[in-house]
Amino acid sequence: MHNCSCENPLVPGIVEVVKIIDETPDIKNFYVRSENGVPFNVMPGQLAMVSLVPVGEGMFSVSWQEENDHLEFAIKRTGLMTDELHKIEVGQKLGVRGPYGNGFPVEECKGKNMLFIAGGIGLAPLRSFIKYCFKHREDYGKITILYGSRSAADLCFKDELFEKWPQEKDTEVYVTIDNPEEGWDGHVGFVPAYLEELNPSPEGTIAVICGPPIMIKFALQSLEKMGYNDEQVITTLEMRMKCGIGKCGRCNIGSEYICLDGPVFNLAQLKQLPPEW
Ligand code: FES
Repeated sequence: MHNCSCENPLVPGIVEVVKIIDETPDIKNFYVRSENGVPFNVMPGQLAMVSLVPVGEGMFSVSWQEENDHLEFAIKRTGLMTDELHKIEVGQKLGVRGPYGNGFPVEECKGKNMLFIAGGIGLAPLRSFIKYCFKHREDYGKITILYGSRSAADLCFKDELFEKWPQEKDTEVYVTIDNPEEGWDGHVGFVPAYLEELNPSPEGTIAVICGPPIMIKFALQSLEKMGYNDEQVITTLEMRMKCGIGKCGRCNIGSEYICLDGPVFNLAQLKQLPPEW
């Protein structure tokens, strides 16, 4: 779990940035590798603490782990730490510790149809589960991916969205942007409305959703209208996590600590929490 020889889980292992992809004007995907390949094993939906000396550290979801090779972090520019991360170049050393959080229930979802609903940078954590399903393709049923962003320039992982994923077996990919724009001949409109238009059957299906709170709010209403029950809908509250190990008290909702019990919950579990999420 931790690639440092010491026993302190708060001491990060050192990784090197080996590739940086500009996904959108404010999202970059960083590939990092330690001397031995990946610094630790991560399951889809788990997070890691990334540190850049002397700037600070931040908790980010792992957007993919290529076994024995590298980890990927798709990071959006949102403040000091991420601004500085966006300035680094290949060869930069970073600290990484983790993994943290429960991750998506990949085992429980086996045999189910999977419906992934994402908005903006929300595709980053879902991508780890999507790619996991493709890697273990026989274990999952039909895969439907619905992704939206403000504009075409804000869509991340475009080569996968438009080239690779639609070619996967029994897979449908739907992409939408909020407003019409020149050069875009794809779907226009908000994710929840498109979801209702597509109306994917709840039969044997698990919906996994991540994106801006407003999108989640309306997409949850749409799913309910379409007949999905609370156990069939999963989301991640990763934005609330800070230390990752139950020490800082920054992630609690009521008496629950998101970092210890989550960040992945189904809707039935979330409805047990005070309505702060
Ligand atoms: S993230 Fe610090 S207590 Fe949960």
